[in-house]
Formats: sequence, structure tokens, C-alpha cells
Amino acid sequence: MSGHSAYEFKNPVARWLDERLPILSLVRGQLVDFPTPRNLNYWWTFGGILATMLVIQLLTGIVLVMHYTPHVSMAFDSVEHIMRDVNWGWLLRWMHANGAAFFFVAVYIHIFRGLYYGSYRSPREILWMIGVIIFIAMMATAFMGYVLPWGQMSYWGAVVITNLFSAFPIVGKYIVTWLWGGFTVGNPTLQRFFSLHYLLPFVLAALVFLHVWALHITGNNNPEGIEVKSSEDTLPFHPYYTMKDLFAIVVFLLVYAGFVFYSPWYLGHHINFEHANPMSTPAHIVPEWYFLPFYAMLRAIPNKLGGVLVMFSSLIILFFLPWLDRAKAKSAKYRPLYRQFFWLLVIVCITLGIAGAQPAQGSWLLVARLATAWYFIHFLVILPVLSFIEKPRELPASISEAVLGKDKA
Ligand code: HEM
Repeated sequence: MSGHSAYEFKNPVARWLDERLPILSLVRGQLVDFPTPRNLNYWWTFGGILATMLVIQLLTGIVLVMHYTPHVSMAFDSVEHIMRDVNWGWLLRWMHANGAAFFFVAVYIHIFRGLYYGSYRSPREILWMIGVIIFIAMMATAFMGYVLPWGQMSYWGAVVITNLFSAFPIVGKYIVTWLWGGFTVGNPTLQRFFSLHYLLPFVLAALVFLHVWALHITGNNNPEGIEVKSSEDTLPFHPYYTMKDLFAIVVFLLVYAGFVFYSPWYLGHHINFEHANPMSTPAHIVPEWYFLPFYAMLRAIPNKLGGVLVMFSSLIILFFLPWLDRAKAKSAKYRPLYRQFFWLLVIVCITLGIAGAQPAQGSWLLVARLATAWYFIHFLVILPVLSFIEKPRELPASISEAVLGKDKA
């Protein structure tokens, strides 16, 4: 794929700069001329949407920090101060809190898009693996951010999740003390979570840079799941995809704004309006919706260590996806059998999310166990087996043939 553009800048200042630091031709090569498959649909706009959400989170976060105090005796009140006294403080806070939720909406769509069209397959393994690391870093960031307002759910969420590490034999309790910076979740815990919550988004930004770099080496996958063969198959990124991305970003932001302005606490838990109280455990400790499928897996296993291992394995397994799926066609469009299992996986993940919000008992516990089992069966059994037994539909000779039809191509 192209690197720097060979474009000759007409503006003398631009030419002068570019001869000394070819930053303009780099931008031109990567964001303007970049040859992009001509058949990308709207599911391909979520990468741009994610980048937009990351910027919104960074900007709102940096201003929130100017008024927030990371101390157990002041954190809760400083958030109230932001909401009541700081000019537009309420907007900053609701944008940041709902921004996290919408960041996850976008990342889940982005990941499932990759699963449907086989975007994790060769030659995009590294791109995919960096994506998985981004996802894990996003979860760590969101978890630590949620603790900062120091409400009841913040505190008890931190207690439950940090305590998971105590499940490891021998070293477990030392790890937990080390994480807490003391013998309970307290001020040192809040301060280190604050520090890391500020740091990690910049690490995320660096990871996104690598992610997009890897993408620009291999080029995009596309709905047909076949590689670009000639210039007929591509369009320049600008204006075709800049405009398509921009349109999708605006629509996405409108829905997000609907939540921010009309129902800012719809996705939250009301008990987080109460100050953290180590003496009073809430009846139900539930994480934010985007963690619920993982929470369901954690509680599905009767043994604590087993639950922790299963939960972490559900993420680790994603790294091996490019090697578990060896099918001849990448895209589910040409794999009728895989397509059904894909939708079953979507249903299983949503079911896990619903089960994660219920108390871990009775029939919901059984549902969570079956869904957890299926999640692993899908990746470890169904994918490898389908690779051998499924006969894909006939693939088009090229992207342009798929788009324009055989005759025109
Ligand atoms: C902050 C989070 C992320 C950002 C900003 C981001 C950004 C992008 C962008 C801009 C693209 C190109 C446009 C597109 O295909 O939508 C892309 C592609 C891709 N991303 Fe991400 N991404 C993020 C997270 C992830 C995660 C968590 C995964 C997987 C676990 C992932 C896997 C991929 C793959 C496989 C592609 C290639 C898609 C294709 O061409 O078919 N990304 N990403």
C-alpha cells in the first residue's frame, strides 16, 4: 500500500515544509489518496466513530480533571460541584459518562463486524490483535473511571473486581493488597485509579495509532472478503470515505446527544448518587452494561478461581481467532453455515449480558452457564470444524466484479 504521496504541493510554504518534514505528503498519502476498496458499507464507519469517541473522552476528561479532587473525602463532593457550580460542568460529566457507554456500543459493533466479514484473517492478524489489546485497555480504563465519583456502586464495584485477584492461590492476597495500596479499597486505591485512568487513554491513543498503521499496511478488508487486485477495485479515501464516515459520525453523535441531553442517567445505577459507604453493601452489585456478559461468565462458574480464569480466557481466546478459523472464504456473505453460527453467537452474547444483570441464582444461572459454554464452543469447536466441512458459495473474481457485475467489470 502507498506510503507518502508523490503529489507536488503548489503552495510554496507547503512545498518548503514538505521538503524538510514530509508530513503533508504523509497525510495526503494516508488520508486523501489512500486506495480503499470501493464496496465498504456502513459497518466500516465504526473505526472513524471510535476515533471520534476517543477524542471526545480525552477532551471532556481533561477539563473534568480541572475540577475533580481524587481524595476519598472530596471526590464525591467534587463531582457534585462539577454538576452544580462549574459552568457547563453537567454537560462535561454527562458527555464523559455517556461517552464511555457509546464508545463501547461502537467497539462491540466494530468487533462483530470483524467477526462477520473475517477481518481478523490473514494478512490482518496483527491489526486484529492490536484491536484486542485496545479492547482490554478500554475495559481497564472504563473500570477505573467508574470508581472515581466514589459513589456506592463505584466503591463496591472496585471491591468486587479487585477481590477477584485473591482467587489466585498463594500470591492472590498479596496481589490484592498491592493493588489496593493498603488493606482495603481506600484513598491510595482511588488515587492510583485516578492516575491510571488519566494515563491509559493516552496509551490507547498510541495503540490506535499502531492499529491504523497496521491497517494501512494491509489495506481494508471488505464485505466480499477478497483482497484488492487492481486499481479498479479501489477509490481514494477522500472524498468517498471521508464523507461517508462524517455522515455516520454525525448520526451516531445525534443518538449519543439524545442520551446526554434527555436521559443522561438512563444507563447508570441510581445508587451511585449515594456516597461510598464501606459499612453498607448494596443488595445487588452490578457493573455497567458493557461489562455484563463478562460478569455473567465470572459468576457462571461455581469456583471463584475458575470464574476468573474463564472470564479472562474469553478475551485471550480472541487473540487466537486468526488461527482457529481456516475457512476458504473470509466473509460470512459467502458462508451460509457460518453466518447462522455468527448470529447465534450474537444472541448468546446478548443473553450473557441479560443474565449478568440478574442475581446469580435459579434459571438465569443455568442460562449463563449454557451461554458461557456456547461462547467457548463457538470459537474452539465450531470455527475449526466449519473451516473443514463448509463449502463456501462461489466468490466473485474481484471486488469490481462484485460491485459492477460481471459484464461491466
Ligand atoms: C479505540 C478503539 C478503536 C479504534 C479507534 C479503531 C479504529 C479503526 C479504524 C479507523 C479502522 C478502519 C475503518 C474500519 O474498518 O472501521 C479499523 C479497522 C479495524 N479494526 Fe479497529 N479500532 C478500535 C478498536 C478495535 C478493536 C477492539 C478491534 C478488535 C478486537 C478492532 C479490529 C479492527 C479490524 C480487524 C479492522 C480491519 C477492518 C477491515 O478492514 O475489515 N479495532 N479500526
